Amino acid sequence: MTTAAPAPKANMGQPIPRYDAVAKVTGTAQYAADMPLRDPAYAYLVTSAIAKGRVDNFDLSEAQKVRGVVDIVTHENAEHLEPAKFFSNGGYASTTNQPLRSPDIAEEGQIIAVVLADTYEAAREAAHRVKVSYTAATPTASFHSPGTVAARAKGQLAMFKDDPKVGDFDKAFEEAEVQISAEYETPPQHHNPMELFATSVAWNGDSLTIYEPSQFVHGLKNGVATQLGIDPDRVHVVNPYVGGAFGSKGSMTPRTAIMASISRRLRRPVKLVATRDQGFNVSTYRAETRHRVELGATSDGKLTALRHEGWEISSRADAYCVGGTKTTTRLYDCPNVDSLVWIVRADRNTPGFMRSPPEVPYLFALESAMDELAYQLKMDPIELRRVNDTNREPIGGKPYTSRSLMACFDEGAKAFGWAERNREPRSMADGEWLIGYGCATTCYPTQMAPAAARVRLRRDGRVRVEIAGHEIGNGAYTVIAQAAATRLEVPVEKVTVVIGDSDLPPAPVAGGSNSTASTCSTVMMVCDQVRQRLLKALMPNEGQTVGQTPSGGASRSDQRLDLDREAAFDALGVSVIEEYGEWKPDGAPADSFRAMHNGQVRMVGGPEFGGRIAYAFGADFVEVRVNRFTHEIRVPRVLGAFAAGHIMNPRSARSQLMGGLIWGVASSLHEATELDERYARYVNDNLADYLVPVNADIPDVEVILLSEEDTQINPAGVKGLGELGNVGTNAAVCNAIFHATGQRIRRLPVRLEKIEV
Ligand code: MOS
Repeated sequence: MTTAAPAPKANMGQPIPRYDAVAKVTGTAQYAADMPLRDPAYAYLVTSAIAKGRVDNFDLSEAQKVRGVVDIVTHENAEHLEPAKFFSNGGYASTTNQPLRSPDIAEEGQIIAVVLADTYEAAREAAHRVKVSYTAATPTASFHSPGTVAARAKGQLAMFKDDPKVGDFDKAFEEAEVQISAEYETPPQHHNPMELFATSVAWNGDSLTIYEPSQFVHGLKNGVATQLGIDPDRVHVVNPYVGGAFGSKGSMTPRTAIMASISRRLRRPVKLVATRDQGFNVSTYRAETRHRVELGATSDGKLTALRHEGWEISSRADAYCVGGTKTTTRLYDCPNVDSLVWIVRADRNTPGFMRSPPEVPYLFALESAMDELAYQLKMDPIELRRVNDTNREPIGGKPYTSRSLMACFDEGAKAFGWAERNREPRSMADGEWLIGYGCATTCYPTQMAPAAARVRLRRDGRVRVEIAGHEIGNGAYTVIAQAAATRLEVPVEKVTVVIGDSDLPPAPVAGGSNSTASTCSTVMMVCDQVRQRLLKALMPNEGQTVGQTPSGGASRSDQRLDLDREAAFDALGVSVIEEYGEWKPDGAPADSFRAMHNGQVRMVGGPEFGGRIAYAFGADFVEVRVNRFTHEIRVPRVLGAFAAGHIMNPRSARSQLMGGLIWGVASSLHEATELDERYARYVNDNLADYLVPVNADIPDVEVILLSEEDTQINPAGVKGLGELGNVGTNAAVCNAIFHATGQRIRRLPVRLEKIEV
């Protein structure tokens, strides 16, 4: 495995080092809890020990004796905030279970009190001395629990449009020469970003500043303003760096408005850093899912029938749903498709986005079933995908804007040495280690949302770009600087990028892998406005269109337009030019810009992209070794080949995809939040017991970036790849385990006790 940055291929930018690399490795990057506050009160959360019931009484006498305690806030004395609307029903909130409103408890770990003190230590000490008496009811924890309620996802939330179907599945399945029917399960998982769920707040008169790691500063600003009943422009959210998020920091959690209201009452800044274990409950997570996949095919592998039924856990309060059948029903050519998604309500905290929310569980099921079908057909699994490859999705017959799935399989297979594989299960070994090779498709919808930017160019070539994007580890600073440098023909070192601040022109949530496509398309457009002014100054008689670039796919980094910048500035007689602009993707609704300014996201793309369908694709390859005596499972190598349109920066793209592949292995072999079903309680709520892989777990991770050009998606030509890497890997691991052992495992995670052969 090489650590060198990949050389750019056609339609790729330069692999420049990360803009924020030095700040991060030298510790000068400031995260929310690092922001200086004057004389803050430190907050410590007291959370519920029961999942269902009520608080009967607080005994605060021992807690109040701790020196330095300033206040203890419970439902009995908390300010009543305005209700928070759920994000998928047009609001901003990750949950509508608002703590501190009543003695009622609806989830384990619910915030029931907040202790404020002059020091963190005093707040923590006092919090541990708060005595709570409860009346506990028996909670329902998960699918198996008596009392859980299942209902169709359709109609319960605006984000879930429909259960896709086409043709006559029942008839086609019954008549199919080959049939597969199998059930799959994925466990609850928690994102656990390195940076904890911190919130610092400070009031200056009636203006509020919030330092909080957020994937969506404009959403948080508007959401908190709504809950506090104040003008959104009185709220300023600042987070130049976010120490990992993966979806957990995408929507507003209850803690922010609670801290703001306490701070307003105390007339003092408040600083909260929720502990790691509290983070399992005060934010979101990936809930457990179940699936039934039925495939019918001809004896030469052509799919004739495909059905995917999914069940997902959500809270009593909210119908959260990832609903991945919108992807799995469209991935392969098949004339008869059916699907159905259920939401199962339990006494749990509301789940939410976690990296590739729909695709990770749903493609685990489909890509495992495809492998099962390949074995039943005695067919190579790559050939099975080739036979069913398509340039038109089967549900609506819409064309893919581009689709390099088989090119990814072919390049990946070659680099991996797939041809050396003996197809028979349990046929390859090295001493006591059974060897298995597995592969799977990965894909992720190409999504975009409206954004605005301000660009300032100086005569000496210095550029300042302002856009409320988010650096969540995705390389946002770097690619935005590259976009501006390319369009304005200046060295990238001359570009200053300012993001992570709600006073900047709005950008969408850094979620759904839309950031690079949305922010770079916007910044390029505004840079073109600057260019237009310069070119007009140079050629006043040539009219408006001089130097104008085509609207699609105009991002080629090798495209030089030879701008004589200094001459243009001299002709204009100014030293600085500034432009502001708002960009929206094709097919964005009419209210897009208004919504954008209100912190609402009008995302388009994927299967909902007008008359087209837009996805990035890849192929994952995994080698596993299973010890025939101890059943220990090792993964010596993982390889992914990906095509995602224009690659802004092959270095940061590779890092994103590599992280994704590692996470994909983690989601199959390591990660699971263990649930004590008696109490609906997370057990391993710490990084010692919640397993994640380390370097020695996957010695060799290889990423291959394919050259791909797509002129139909957005001006940057970018498909996005933040969530592409960790899709399908879980299936590839299980497919490899089947090849090694002959045992098919359909329930994640795969631990050695599940190997029975
Ligand atoms: Mo992602 S789960 O869209 O932050």
